[in-house]
Amino acid sequence: MASFLMCRPDYYRIEYEINPWMSRRRQVRSQAALHQWEELHRVLTQEVGATVKLIEPVPGLPDLVFTANGGYVAGRRFIRANFRYNQRAPEAPLFAAWFAQRGYQVLTLPRGYYFEGEGDLLPCGLRLFGGYHYRTDVHSHRIIGELLQQEVISLELADPYFYHLDTCFCPLPDGAALYYPPAFVAASRRLIEQHTARPIEVSAEDAHRFGCNSVVVGRQVVVNAGCAQLRQGLEARGYAVHEVDLSEFLKAGGAAKCLALRLGWEDEPTWA
Ligand code: ARG
Repeated sequence: MASFLMCRPDYYRIEYEINPWMSRRRQVRSQAALHQWEELHRVLTQEVGATVKLIEPVPGLPDLVFTANGGYVAGRRFIRANFRYNQRAPEAPLFAAWFAQRGYQVLTLPRGYYFEGEGDLLPCGLRLFGGYHYRTDVHSHRIIGELLQQEVISLELADPYFYHLDTCFCPLPDGAALYYPPAFVAASRRLIEQHTARPIEVSAEDAHRFGCNSVVVGRQVVVNAGCAQLRQGLEARGYAVHEVDLSEFLKAGGAAKCLALRLGWEDEPTWA
């Protein structure tokens, strides 16, 4: 069974601007955000059949809801994040403590090696794909590859609106992937084409609706509402698509995938 870590949006607001989606003048409607988050939680647990664990929200850390950035889980090991921006740095020890308390071995990258967790590191097929440029450093990929004894294919991001890999690249269970080509430099686009099976191009419109920021569990895909073309493409390939309106979270530059850190891949080989 797939399981995820989420954080209730009790203190979620736009308090600072660290990516081009964020504007303090476009404030979160808290009640609406809570309902959207609860709907995502309901779809994951009741429709998709996943388990969701929770980390306590903390006042003053509005982006803690985006648990995917807290680190990366590999079996019983947890590689903790090194956030690029000071505003998010205090989240890292909270995630590290959550995992340490549950018996995970917490691995820390050397100081100055930025790494924003699953936001910039995703397994696809038998490989890991790492994003870099805006948040994570390419040098962190090398260290992570050594720690996990696994090849990391480094992809250079090229559009500040798609500042994390999980905003423009989404692995699918058969070694396939969704991706938004203009978000990558040409050489990285070619790497995706070479190293994934039948990559599906997401349109500019759906990409800007965070279509690539989907949670995938087997053949089920949980995606922000309104990605009509993407939905059609996925359904034609035999996926069941669950739409959840996450418009309040787009205001901070995140959607479904950012809100749920995957805890376990155990029963779900990505190359099946
Ligand atoms: N406001 C957050 C930031 O800029 C959003 C994080 C979105 N998370 C993600 N995995 N893409 O850091």
